[in-house]
Amino acid sequence: MKTQMPGTGERFRTLKSPTMQHVDSVPPYQRELYQRGARGHKPRVPLHFDQLQERARQQFSARAFAYVAGGAGQETTQFANRLAFEDWCIQPKMLRDVSVRSLKTTIFGKEWRSPLMLSPVGALGLLREQADALVARAAARCRTPMVFSNQASVQMETCAALMGDSPRWFQLYWSKSNELVASLVSRAEACGCEAIVVTLDTPLLGWRPRDLQLGSLPFARAIGLAQYLSDPVFQSYLDEVQLRPSGPITLAALEVFYQACRNYGGSLWQNLRTRRPLKAVQQFVDIYSRTDLLWSDLKFLRKHTRLPIVLKGILCAEDARLALDAGMDGIWVSNHGGRQVDGARTSLNALVEVVAEVRGAVPVFFDSGIRAGADVFKALALGATAVGLGRPFALALGLAGEEGVVEVIENTLTELDLTMAFAGCCDLEGIRGHRLLRNE
Ligand SMILES: Cc1cc2nc3c(=O)[nH]c(=O)nc-3n(C[C@H](O)[C@H](O)[C@H](O)COP(=O)(O)O)c2cc1C
Repeated sequence: MKTQMPGTGERFRTLKSPTMQHVDSVPPYQRELYQRGARGHKPRVPLHFDQLQERARQQFSARAFAYVAGGAGQETTQFANRLAFEDWCIQPKMLRDVSVRSLKTTIFGKEWRSPLMLSPVGALGLLREQADALVARAAARCRTPMVFSNQASVQMETCAALMGDSPRWFQLYWSKSNELVASLVSRAEACGCEAIVVTLDTPLLGWRPRDLQLGSLPFARAIGLAQYLSDPVFQSYLDEVQLRPSGPITLAALEVFYQACRNYGGSLWQNLRTRRPLKAVQQFVDIYSRTDLLWSDLKFLRKHTRLPIVLKGILCAEDARLALDAGMDGIWVSNHGGRQVDGARTSLNALVEVVAEVRGAVPVFFDSGIRAGADVFKALALGATAVGLGRPFALALGLAGEEGVVEVIENTLTELDLTMAFAGCCDLEGIRGHRLLRNE
């Protein structure tokens, strides 16, 4: 009997363990961890999310930790996102033949190794140099799709070039300038992105006390602006920008200015002299999003791209229906990891409602609260087509770079595979047919 775990051959090569036998009762990656452990090599990042977060708290700068770990308001939604998973339980099933299993799926005509992808996470430059490039490499090694954030710290073309033919999407924040929107979208098409994800839940930045307490906004330091700075339309606007008076010059303000000049790229001296990085930051703040966007505006995007369009941030049946009426190709249920509306309903709860409304007309993606493979199983069993991992990969990136991200992905996928087997299922169809029980 053979276990079929797609992609594990590749994983073997990356972990340099070509001699390992394919043994039915232990998935290769789990076996690898035990074998490495026996040789005294611990995993680079903790496997339990709480420990992962705790280590990040100890090692990250205060600003970086606040940005990744923090949420909106009192963080009740962020907390509730996790509790929602505990409302459901998996029913293990015995004596089913689960010897041949596959997590493979096809999304918008492209085969994916599994229904797991990396959610768009902006400002990763707070955590590491070349952050998004490291994530792109890890994602490609694990053949797991990456969604390039509109707020990335490395431009999409660079990341795409590192990914071969591994799947990637582009996430868009709809700017005040439609010309910029069109430019970003056409660049995404040109670098091989296979869908455009429009994030709708951030017409304004959420109220985030941890960042506010530190007075920390990554974009002020030109962190997370790579898609803009590399864009010809955005750059053309900077020539016209008149800097507004910025208040008294303090040491702290000088430090932010210096950081912005460093992160902007090119000649530091030139940046300090021309203050172009400050113009870029001001322009970004002025145009990064639109508060007057309407459902009817989606026509513009439809006209400007041949790619499938996915709307991220949908949290109710009514909006799901509007998305279908607008001819959208996918819906992404998400509350942005509790970073926008404190007190908003949990994403998992919304998933159930949206799946019932959509009835398979388009794929329904999901994130907010996924911490491990068992969570992915639950979201799939509740009807998600594919699931996004957010904070866990960002924390792992900060702690251990590319290798950390690879570990988090493989941990999640292996636990998902095992959970599937214990539930008596062999593939996604089996998972979708698995009825979760309400926890009493
Ligand atoms: C630090 C951070 C930055 C994020 N940046 C973006 C972004 O640029 N675009 C976007 O659509 N969502 C962004 N998100 C939301 C994620 O895509 C995803 O919805 C969220 O992380 C899910 O919650 P979880 O990480 O708690 O599971 C960000 C989330 C975090 C934690």
